[in-house]
Amino acid sequence: MTQSQGIVVLGSTGSVGVSTLDVLSRHREGFHVVALTARANVDLLFRQCQQHRPSFAVVVEESAGLELQRRVAGSDLPTEVLIGAPELQQVTRLEGVVIVMAAIVGAAGLLPVLEAVRAGKRVLIANKEPLAMLGGVFVSEARRSGATLLPIDSEHNAVFQCLPADATQRTALAEDPSRYGVNKIILTGSGGPFRNFDPDQLHTVTPEQACAHPNWDMGRKISVDSATMMNKGLEIIEAGWLFNLDPDRIEVVIHPQSVIHSLVEYVDGSVLAQLGSPDMRIPIAHALAWPQRMESGATPLDLCQLGRLDFEPPQPDRFPCLQIAQQVARRGGTAPAVINAANEIAVAAFLNQDIEFTGIPRLITDTLDGVGVTDDCDLSSVLAADHEARRFSTEWVRRHGGSGSSVQTLVQTYL
Ligand SMILES: NC(=O)c1ccc[n+]([C@@H]2O[C@H](COP(=O)([O-])OP(=O)(O)OC[C@H]3O[C@@H](n4cnc5c(N)ncnc54)[C@H](OP(=O)(O)O)[C@@H]3O)[C@@H](O)[C@H]2O)c1
Repeated sequence: MTQSQGIVVLGSTGSVGVSTLDVLSRHREGFHVVALTARANVDLLFRQCQQHRPSFAVVVEESAGLELQRRVAGSDLPTEVLIGAPELQQVTRLEGVVIVMAAIVGAAGLLPVLEAVRAGKRVLIANKEPLAMLGGVFVSEARRSGATLLPIDSEHNAVFQCLPADATQRTALAEDPSRYGVNKIILTGSGGPFRNFDPDQLHTVTPEQACAHPNWDMGRKISVDSATMMNKGLEIIEAGWLFNLDPDRIEVVIHPQSVIHSLVEYVDGSVLAQLGSPDMRIPIAHALAWPQRMESGATPLDLCQLGRLDFEPPQPDRFPCLQIAQQVARRGGTAPAVINAANEIAVAAFLNQDIEFTGIPRLITDTLDGVGVTDDCDLSSVLAADHEARRFSTEWVRRHGGSGSSVQTLVQTYL
């Protein structure tokens, strides 16, 4: 790496954002931080500004943004504090920005990530929800602008690494995987904290239990998604767009140790896998350095200490969200946006103890039935479907006894 590359970290105060800054701090000669962003976590964002001295810091919530402005004004930082969601888009298209790390959680990341793609940046995609909602638009905009899309989700990053270099020249968007002899891809998932839980007792589980992932230390929303396996469902949809694959050629296998991150099966029977410790700094370092390699800070894998690797099929009665997402992946159109929005509301309501864990798939199914799904996949149709699904889901929470207050702010997070 010769020249220092400018990077924007969207969602720098989150789990992926913090891991990204950890990797960057090991390679200060190769990268400089142009902008950091958060929704409201001013304490952490201010500390990150002190460590990385970005030109810009964006805070979405106004009162938090004003507080950061006050703290920065009393410091020697070269940082301009911008306030409001539209500013997220502004910093992603800045001329000096080469790389955008998309690490906001949920649909709130959609418009800034789309802006980064339209501006032709190298976009590192952890934020899977926008790609699941609007994959076709991301694909066509990346082709038009020449943007490079690199997957950060450990599963998609693993598939990317197992595909031939020819198929992934500039981007994860392989033209036609069959051309390279790809038969199918196999996404692994740990099965989360309830892999062996009695399905009849799932209605009793608490947010703390759901967020206690056995292998990964992640944000609360993706932790619940891992417990329901909606995370794997969103990943199927994301993989379909990234690797140009029909959902029927994307298999899911439970692998409790989270060491094999995913696999690619070729027509000759060869199966290539990528292995590593369950540490997000590995895919982050891979994508930052690609097509080269650099140190990530992760502990090397010790196969002998590990001893064994296990696999099993996901149980449908334990993971109804996975089944819903598989059906939606085949349906296409606005259906992925609808289940994504319903899931965001359902998870927020569960975390606020407004609904039970088993209410999550019920709310998603009812929203899918209650909101019209169309074949359109353009930006305005998808945003309209997202908005309608949020409205329907919030009402659902109220009707089922919840206050709905916890989810009200999610109804219009980014429009
Ligand atoms: N964590 C993982 O290991 C992992 C692995 C693979 C993929 N992913 C994906 O990466 C994304 C981030 O996950 P995470 O676990 O890092 O999430 P997280 O820990 O909850 O962090 C979310 C980040 O987004 C910001 N944010 C939240 N709502 C926002 C809004 N409305 N507008 C702007 N920014 C907002 C948060 O700011 P505040 O801190 O101020 O709230 C925080 O910086 C998700 O899409 C997830 O599915 C995560």
